[in-house]
Amino acid sequence: MNYLEIKDIPPVSEFSLGCMNLPIDDPAETEKIIAFALESGINYFDTADFYQFGENEKVVGEILNKYRSRYNFTIGTKVGNEFDAAKKEKIAWNPTAPYIKSAVKDSLSRLGVDQIDLYQLHGGMIEDDKDETIQAFDELKQEGTIKAYGISSIRMNVIDYYQKHSSIATLMMQFNPIDNRPAEMLKDLDDSIRLLSRGPVMQGLLSDKSDEVLERKFKAGLLDYTHHELNQSVEGLAALNDDLTALSYRFLRAHHSVIVNGVSSFEQLKANLQSYNRIEDISQKSYEDIFNKIKPIKYGAHRL
Ligand SMILES: NC(=O)c1ccc[n+]([C@@H]2O[C@H](COP(=O)([O-])OP(=O)(O)OC[C@H]3O[C@@H](n4cnc5c(N)ncnc54)[C@H](OP(=O)(O)O)[C@@H]3O)[C@@H](O)[C@H]2O)c1
Repeated sequence: MNYLEIKDIPPVSEFSLGCMNLPIDDPAETEKIIAFALESGINYFDTADFYQFGENEKVVGEILNKYRSRYNFTIGTKVGNEFDAAKKEKIAWNPTAPYIKSAVKDSLSRLGVDQIDLYQLHGGMIEDDKDETIQAFDELKQEGTIKAYGISSIRMNVIDYYQKHSSIATLMMQFNPIDNRPAEMLKDLDDSIRLLSRGPVMQGLLSDKSDEVLERKFKAGLLDYTHHELNQSVEGLAALNDDLTALSYRFLRAHHSVIVNGVSSFEQLKANLQSYNRIEDISQKSYEDIFNKIKPIKYGAHRL
């Protein structure tokens, strides 16, 4: 397992676990996945207060705390979507300082920790009072409630503001060879900010289940791809290497990114880790050929 530096927190495993789709209604299966992740050298676990309206933080926190004496790990969580946990409803986007400072206490309690390792703004709009949000994160960092903070955003104008006016350690975006929209932004990303790529297997499209996932999840196409174009791209990628997951990971490694894998079963984690161990089997030529098989996509909105 490779580990990547992130400012203000210990190095994070290049292959990390996204906890959003874990089967938290089955805590034993969830624990099996998390325990296997820890044994495999994974030390970054990504959750959010909003996932299952607080339940994800509770289940993941409780399981991880059982393993704290044996493993060192980092938990990232997120804030900004105000919700009613009892009604299981979103109330509003809320990046204000009073809300963040109150929500962080709820996350600490649900996770069962004294300090949050990585606290991420779960979105962000150009219209937000961004200085107020940044000040809240800085104050939480100074008082030791959080170690580091970041944002999860796909909006170029928002990312640019945070890059210039805050000390974000991380930027999370959906990124993989098919959804390659972040590529054009990365040349302007400050070296001190680590990219956390979510969606590395594009919901299973970049796995050995690609045919079935294409029909089940992407009948209407995806982003700028029609269903037909998506099929052509996936077939083109498979001709480079039949391990589509390893190809995607190779692409993300070339962008110095943490690969935040989401899984809903133990088998998926096992399969994805096997592909991670095959990254080095992907030749430089196959990596370069990826760009001939995909559609370069740009964000149309929220540009600078
Ligand atoms: N805005 C945000 O900040 C934001 C948004 C989304 C996600 N995230 C974070 O990023 C993480 C990863 O994102 P993601 O879950 O969207 O992306 P992903 O890792 O590309 O997709 C995960 C899903 O892909 C399928 N999958 C995974 N491995 C597979 C395999 N080997 N074979 C077949 N299917 C497979 C599963 O779908 P099925 O369950 O349908 O089988 C799984 O739930 C999340 O867990 C979360 O921590 C953040």
